[in-house]
Amino acid sequence: MSENQTTDAQGLSGEIPAEGFPPPPEFAAQANVGADVYERAAADRVGFWEEAARRLDWTQEWDQALDWSNPPFAKWFVGGKLNVAVNCVDRHVEAGHGDQVAYHWVGEPGDTRTITYAQLKDQVCQAANALVELGVQTGDRVAIYLPMIPEAVVSMLACARIGAVHMVVFGGFSPDALASRITDADAHVVITADGGYRRGAPSGLKPNVDEALGKTDGVRNVVVVKRTGQDVDWTEGRDIWWDDLVGRQSTEHEAESFDAEHPLYIMYTSGTTAKPKGVLHTSGGYLTQVSYTHWASFDIKPDTDVFWTAADVGWVTGHSYIVYGPLSNRTTSVMYEGTPDTPHQGRWWEIIAEYGVTVLYTAPTTIRTFMKWGEDVPAKFDLSSLRLLGSVGEPINPEAWLWYHKNIGGGRCPVVDTWWQTETGAHMVNPLPGVTTLKPGAAQSPFPGIGVKVVDEEGNPIEPGATGYLVLTEPWPSMLRTIWGDDERYKDTYWSRYGQGVYFAGDGAKLDEDGDIWLLGRVDDVMNVSGHRISTTEVESALVSHPAVAEAAVVGATDPTTGQGIVAFVILRGNAEDSGEELVKGLRQHVRKEIGPIASPRQIMVVQELPKTRSGKIMRRLLRDVAENRELGDDTTLTDSAVMDQNSAKLPTSQD
Ligand code: WT7
Repeated sequence: MSENQTTDAQGLSGEIPAEGFPPPPEFAAQANVGADVYERAAADRVGFWEEAARRLDWTQEWDQALDWSNPPFAKWFVGGKLNVAVNCVDRHVEAGHGDQVAYHWVGEPGDTRTITYAQLKDQVCQAANALVELGVQTGDRVAIYLPMIPEAVVSMLACARIGAVHMVVFGGFSPDALASRITDADAHVVITADGGYRRGAPSGLKPNVDEALGKTDGVRNVVVVKRTGQDVDWTEGRDIWWDDLVGRQSTEHEAESFDAEHPLYIMYTSGTTAKPKGVLHTSGGYLTQVSYTHWASFDIKPDTDVFWTAADVGWVTGHSYIVYGPLSNRTTSVMYEGTPDTPHQGRWWEIIAEYGVTVLYTAPTTIRTFMKWGEDVPAKFDLSSLRLLGSVGEPINPEAWLWYHKNIGGGRCPVVDTWWQTETGAHMVNPLPGVTTLKPGAAQSPFPGIGVKVVDEEGNPIEPGATGYLVLTEPWPSMLRTIWGDDERYKDTYWSRYGQGVYFAGDGAKLDEDGDIWLLGRVDDVMNVSGHRISTTEVESALVSHPAVAEAAVVGATDPTTGQGIVAFVILRGNAEDSGEELVKGLRQHVRKEIGPIASPRQIMVVQELPKTRSGKIMRRLLRDVAENRELGDDTTLTDSAVMDQNSAKLPTSQD
């Protein structure tokens, strides 16, 4: 199990009151949910989710809330029909809230756009009509490769509206990564932009699409949003400007209802093999849990809150808590295109003060970056509008929790640490802000209606005080339904380890004496870098595809800011000409090209040998020790323990 720095609250006892952080009484008094929610959900789990589903508009009621007759293939709200986009947009306009702001959008260079629910409805209808004009039909996949601009949301909702399946690829992924996702999902239309703004400069997206389309067949049309105005290559007949296509469409579009189990989107995520998995989410159950958790975990008040998930729509956090959760709850959100330090390190706090943000949701890695920049940066801004803070993506270490609570939340805002995954679709383990007495560093309790256990190797529940593996023991509405095109892989990856009906999450966890859950990080070959999930095998296979590399092993080493940093060990081919700095630079560049900048190793070490078990498996645990400069662990299972000696003796011949 990968150890994590995060549960060690030593030295912080002075800052953590013995009684923890109980909900402030004023907060508890007005909270959307009280302690009774746990009892209600425990008494009738499925009935509890049915109640949550009734918060949405259905055009046809379901006959069966849950069909789990063929595990692990679940069906929720069987026979029910709804339109996800109508639930996110139209129904609020019809109820008289058309003038409410859906998004305060802030571009990195400082340009802004305000979009009301009525405007969003018109744009979604136009985009839906545009997709229909391009021949997109119900069930077809549409690739979306956009920066953080409103058209990303509009595109997703337009797909949902016509029953097309969106497949958003984070703008930081390479042409190769984009191409393989387009191929796997068999998408025929791509929506992109000329470029986007990151760190003060425009970066190209359309060139990446052009390159990707040289590596995959079947894309008929590329719809291009003009964002930066940079020059782009143009393929007549294939490429079409968003404004030309969407601008001329009618703002009327009659929405059809779809089955609760109609596919909504595919999101690729890294697993333990080199091939990313297409996680499939469907409509009714997904929207039910995303909407309810957004409302309950963040105590959302649609009339007064200004909500900001500071993430990218290219990840599941953006799908669930920038788009579907907030819109289904008629929330006003902030959406920000750029980086936190452009043009200055107080940019986020300036945005919060400007728009009166009340709820902020971000990742521990970002909080630790702000800690490095110093508390005097946020201190210069009025953050008094904030009333709740959320965290996601990795365990939040108590130091970061306390800093966030004090310096951003002014000591008055509950900090809600939410554990979940691309696969779970929505929050699964987190405190409830009006109920739970908070413990810095712990995700604490299963969300109401969610079955969670921490078990040992054999699958037996562990005792308080012990450490084990997090499993989910009951199907939940927003669970993934399968891996796109690969039911076997879905079964093997998640449901085979502990037998029928038990979902293996891939995370280690500890139960404290009160039975509260502390997440400890991944237990498989998956790294968590700045809250992004990256597969060690995926980076390894990118490295060995370089002509100079014979073999590669990649580990996630503890990193004070990013949680983990990618460290690669490579063995060069005999004919490799260079083993110095230039080569290392080239290898890093190669990984950027193959996967994307987020997968670029922090450190690359050229070595002569790699430690392996008798069965030939690379011993990543030992390499992690080397990468973190720890005492080497027990290496008795090495084929030849001299390998590690030799290895460490020769380490590193080259690194940076
Ligand atoms: C993995 C899922 C959920 C959206 C962002 C990441 C880690 C996530 C927490 C948390 C401890 C966390 C887990 C999980 N993780 N949130 N609050 N505490 N660990 O989604 O890319 O699917 O990654 O992120 O290891 O398995 P993802």
